[in-house]
Amino acid sequence: MKSLRTALVALAMSPSLAPRLPAESPVPAVEARNGLVVSVCPLASRTGCDILKRGGNAVDAAIATAFALAVTHPAAGNIGGGGFMLVHPAPGRGEPDVIEYRETAPAAAARDMFPRGSSKFGHRVVGVPGTVRGLELAFQRYGSKAISWAQLIEPAIHLAADGFVVDQVLADSLNELLSQSPDFAELQRVYGKDGGRVSWQPGDRLRQSDLAATLRLIAEQGADALYSGRIADQIVAEMDAGGGLITRADLKSYAAKPRQPVHGTYRGFDVWAPPSPSSGGVALVQMLNVLENFDLKSLGRNSPETLHLVAESMRRAYCDRARYLGDSDFVSIPSHLTDKAYARKLAASIDRHRATRSDDLAPDLSIVDREGDSTTHFSVIDKDGMAVANTYTLEHSYGSKVVVRGAGFLLNNEMVDFNLRPGITTRRGGIGTPANEIAPGKRMLSSQTPTILSRDGRVRLVTGSPGGRTIINTVLCVVVNSVDFGMDVRSAVDAPRQHHQWFPDELRLERSSLLRDAEPRLKQMGHRITHAVQGDAHAIAVDPSTGVYRGAADARIRGGAAGY
Ligand code: DON
Repeated sequence: MKSLRTALVALAMSPSLAPRLPAESPVPAVEARNGLVVSVCPLASRTGCDILKRGGNAVDAAIATAFALAVTHPAAGNIGGGGFMLVHPAPGRGEPDVIEYRETAPAAAARDMFPRGSSKFGHRVVGVPGTVRGLELAFQRYGSKAISWAQLIEPAIHLAADGFVVDQVLADSLNELLSQSPDFAELQRVYGKDGGRVSWQPGDRLRQSDLAATLRLIAEQGADALYSGRIADQIVAEMDAGGGLITRADLKSYAAKPRQPVHGTYRGFDVWAPPSPSSGGVALVQMLNVLENFDLKSLGRNSPETLHLVAESMRRAYCDRARYLGDSDFVSIPSHLTDKAYARKLAASIDRHRATRSDDLAPDLSIVDREGDSTTHFSVIDKDGMAVANTYTLEHSYGSKVVVRGAGFLLNNEMVDFNLRPGITTRRGGIGTPANEIAPGKRMLSSQTPTILSRDGRVRLVTGSPGGRTIINTVLCVVVNSVDFGMDVRSAVDAPRQHHQWFPDELRLERSSLLRDAEPRLKQMGHRITHAVQGDAHAIAVDPSTGVYRGAADARIRGGAAGY
């Protein structure tokens, strides 16, 4: 696992070094009948599973898992970021719902506040955090109340106060963070080992006493502790000290929102995924609608024909994403994007033997030639069949790198998810369209796509992933693997993935012996091929005939499934 993680880091610097995927995951799927949690961190999964065993429901377990990850997986687990929680109730108990807790731009933010060359780190890129309000809203609406809010946070407080054993993945990640961020003094103090003099080794214990105190306040006082209480004071003091924009009023007025999920159907399954301010639901349903027009099964999963059709559906959906999507409280999103009729038109525009040029999809947009990495997803299901798909993030690994002084937690750098350079859309992938420009109070467009497939009101698949813009395509691959090719959850997660995002006009494939034979033909069709490892999709599938739950932790970074 270490070598893959190390390779992932190398990969960020040189895509040509993309490692080959192992043919089979070293982590077997975990079977359970009563409840299951799958996340990037075995300790956090066990925390969630313990809540299920104590009679908590899937939302209770998700809240406990999210707080635990804020301690054990600080690159992305968070209380200073934001995300999306998709809740699918137990059969017969109502409709799926999204708890949206995306960050907002502070009131003092402005459309052009980040001139070219602005840093992606530091105080100015921090959005008003949403996670704690979001988890509280989830608790109020869906928590079983058999276990109190404070009890759900208690395990995270212990993990922070007593510490936990650092594994190889976390040791590597922290050492890299510390060596790359010498200017962030509070980060060095909180995450440095022995004041930063020595590097972390597997087996060391990471204690976070400031974070434990912060979590205790949130346990005792609820989210108000962070939005109007002592932690709000600490955040505002941090902003004042570092030239950040977030004020007391920004924190006080922040609200997490219940939102209707995007709903689509795919070959008889109901598909549920988050709406704006995520682009995930619209783009996923749009791509699935396009693919429904083709018999992928008869073409074979890894044939050049299937890879081409999937890539072309991605290209079209990502073009529409760039053109139209932003926070629906500020811009209006055309409803045709998720229509089957529109998808038929898009499907008809695909040349089955030739890659479309991305330029040709948007002749009206002026596109010029020139001008991060960590989120985490977890999946939960309980004994009644209630399920949660939750993705949350600090945007880049360790977010803005700003740790709130004395409070022990990192703030996000989510402002960089806005279209920072209005009017400048580039062939390198920069997007400058108006829908996602910065405005005070607006939520930046996300790609987070926690997704649930159900049939007849019963959950069949729970999944999601990190990976920035690749997220939606990772989810698409897992869905197609499961639905079209009948793969079990282990294989659906392990199978090599692909990504096309309109611009850059290239087809990114995972390096795998399974895709090797298809590459020459794809190149002939006109695709420019690059390689990268993609995503980290911790997923659960339900066997409809036996009701057995199977959880597959993605082995691309690390992970753990805990069930009973
Ligand atoms: O919400 C989004 O789309 C991004 N902030 C997600 C960032 C991400 O996934 C980085 N991770 N690997």
